[in-house]
Formats: sequence, structure tokens, C-alpha cells
Amino acid sequence: MRAVVIQEHGGLDLLRFEEVPEPKFTEDEVILKVYSAGLNHLDIWVRKGRSGLKIAMPHILGSDAAGVVTAIGVNVKNINMGDKVILNPCLSCGSCEYCNRGEQSECISFGIVGMTRQGTFAEKVAVPARNVFPKPSHLNFDEAGAFVLSYLTAWRMLMTRGQLKPGQTVLIHGIGGGVALCALQLAKLAGAEVIVTSSSDEKLDCAGKVGADRTINYGKVNDVAQSVRDITSGRGVDVVIDTVGTATWPIDFSAVRRGGKIILCGVTSGPQAPTNLQMLYWNQLTILGSTMGSDKDLRQMLKAVTAAKLKPVIDSVISLENIRDAMGRMEEGKQFGKLVLKVSE
Ligand SMILES: NC(=O)c1ccc[n+]([C@@H]2O[C@H](COP(=O)([O-])OP(=O)(O)OC[C@H]3O[C@@H](n4cnc5c(N)ncnc54)[C@H](OP(=O)(O)O)[C@@H]3O)[C@@H](O)[C@H]2O)c1
Ligand SMILES: [Zn+2]
Repeated sequence: MRAVVIQEHGGLDLLRFEEVPEPKFTEDEVILKVYSAGLNHLDIWVRKGRSGLKIAMPHILGSDAAGVVTAIGVNVKNINMGDKVILNPCLSCGSCEYCNRGEQSECISFGIVGMTRQGTFAEKVAVPARNVFPKPSHLNFDEAGAFVLSYLTAWRMLMTRGQLKPGQTVLIHGIGGGVALCALQLAKLAGAEVIVTSSSDEKLDCAGKVGADRTINYGKVNDVAQSVRDITSGRGVDVVIDTVGTATWPIDFSAVRRGGKIILCGVTSGPQAPTNLQMLYWNQLTILGSTMGSDKDLRQMLKAVTAAKLKPVIDSVISLENIRDAMGRMEEGKQFGKLVLKVSE
């Protein structure tokens, strides 16, 4: 079968589209024929490599997928051959203290398909049967293959960690990002007022069409936090959704209201940033880290997305062999919405 493979960590030029052996599967796993697979920033991190991340080579990238089940292990009861499915890429042990508490994304051996095992940018992928769910019928394969990781992450940030309430105000940085845009859709679904930022007026126009109430071009204003305070009559927002890290962390503290929440899931611009501890205690802020989601988060997110017939915004659908173009577009931050790799018809 054909797959996107790396033999070592590094630049875009190390991505190879080549023949690899078909995956083997255990008695608790299924084989998924992948139709579509969404790109996430994680794929860039895995390709580049990170300190502490040990990956056996050759490695197939990709965490999101939608497709059809073509083989099932003997123990598998929850899914049948021929089912149209989506994949939850979160891998957990099921027996540690955190899994027992229902917090699978806090699992001591937490992993992600495409990072800690072979990924979805391939004609076929073997995955645990418990990670496979029926494809929501209102989504086509391209939409279904590009929504789980981003929506799940955004759901946990806003609803589980943030406990977002109708009428609250949310600031979302960098709306061109996958998680950021899903967070906008989910925050609007929850009845929040949403302020978004971007480096691009075009993306801000698109965000307005998706439901953003107010927009800020962070490339054009001198002080994003001041713009947020102006919009909120000096009060600040209830919740900040940060996927950017170093570049936005200082803004978060000046843009959030007293007693508000700063929720962080990613560090696209870097992992180190000074924290104003005085602002933290004086304004009685809550800082929350968030990663992917638990099984309960996933169930709740799928119910909400299905009931509201929510669809991910698709930037473009690109054939698997053109992975370098797709990943290059994401790396340059040109996309608005999800980049989808078309794997099979
Ligand atoms: N912890 C988790 O479970 C989890 C899950 C998913 C993702 N993540 C992490 O979250 C981050 C985002 O991933 P993604 O796939 O959603 O995003 P992505 O598509 O890679 O997002 C990149 C976007 O970040 C925005 N950005 C970059 N620098 C910025 C700055 N200085 N100020 C404001 N915005 C800036 C840009 O928005 P504009 O183009 O609008 O300017 C850019 O388009 C990544 O670091 C990823 O690893 C973590
Ligand atoms: Zn566990």
C-alpha cells in the first residue's frame, strides 16, 4: 500500500510517498481503509521531532481519519466489516489511576495515533476497535476525516476545562488554526460572544461568516489586549483560548477579566513565556492546560456536533501524494480551516 513516511526527523523534503507493507492487526483491532485524513499541526511536530519524543522509523504520519472497516480482530464486537467510521486518535491504557477516573487523556501512557503508533496518511491503518466510531451521517468523508482531533481538543478546552456558559465572552487567538476555528464554532453553539484574532483580514472576514462577533488583526494593532479591553468596555473576556504560546501568553493576562480563565493547548510560537505572577494572584486568574479529550468528552462532542449538524470548515482537499504542498501550506499559516488529504475514493 502507499503511505506518507518519514525515515528521520526534519524538513518537508524528508516526507516520502511510497510503498510500505500492509499493517498487521491484533484480536482487539480493526483495519480501516482510509478515505480522507485531516492534517493537524501535530503532524508537523512529529515530522520535525521534539526532545523527549522517541519514534521508531520508518514512521507513517497522520492522526485523523475517516474510512471503511475492512478487517476486524476476533474479539471485536462494537464494529462490523463495511462500517463507515471515524477515528478517535487518543490512545490510553484503560487501567491506570487516570483512566479509572475516566480521564483518558491524562493516562500515564497516553499516546496518539500517528505519534506513538503508525498513522493514517496511508491507504490502510490498524487501530484499536475501541477508537472507532460510526461516521456522523451529515458529514461526507472529507469532513469526517478532518474533525475529531480539533473538535475534541476545542470541546475539552471550552466545555470541560473552561465550563463555558451562555453569554460569556471568549477570546480566541489565531483563527486560521484548526483548533481555534473549531473553538469558534463550539463557543457560538454554546451561546458565547467570541472575539477572534488573525494575521489576515481575509481570514477575519471568513471568521465573521462562521460567527465571530468581533475581530482583531494582530499584525495591524499595537496592543491586542488593549483592543480586547476596548471591545469589552474595559472588563476583559471570561475565557481565553490559546493555542499559540510564547507570542500570546502576555496578551492573555491583560485581556482576561478578573477571575477569568486562560486555557492553553498548544505552543505553535514556542513553549517559553514570562508569567506576570502579580496579575495571576491579584486578578485571581485560573490557568488551565488541556490536551485532546477523555472518552466522555468525545461522546459529548460527537452528540453536540451531530445534533447541531456542525461541519468543519475545509480549507482544501489535496491528494495524499501532494503531502508536501499540504503541510507546507499549514507550516506557512496560509490555511483557513482544515487541510484534508484525499487517500482513496
Ligand atoms: N494539546 C492538544 O491536545 C492539542 C491538540 C491539537 C493541537 N494542539 C496544538 O495547538 C497548536 C495549534 O494547532 P492547530 O493544528 O490547531 O493549528 P494550526 O493550524 O497549525 O494553527 C496555526 C495558526 O496559529 C496562528 N498563530 C501563529 N502565530 C500566532 C501569533 N503570534 N498570534 C496569534 N496567532 C498565531 C495563525 O493564525 P492566523 O493565520 O489566523 O494568523 C496560524 O494560522 C499546535 O501547536 C498544536 O500542536 C494541541
Ligand atoms: Zn491509563
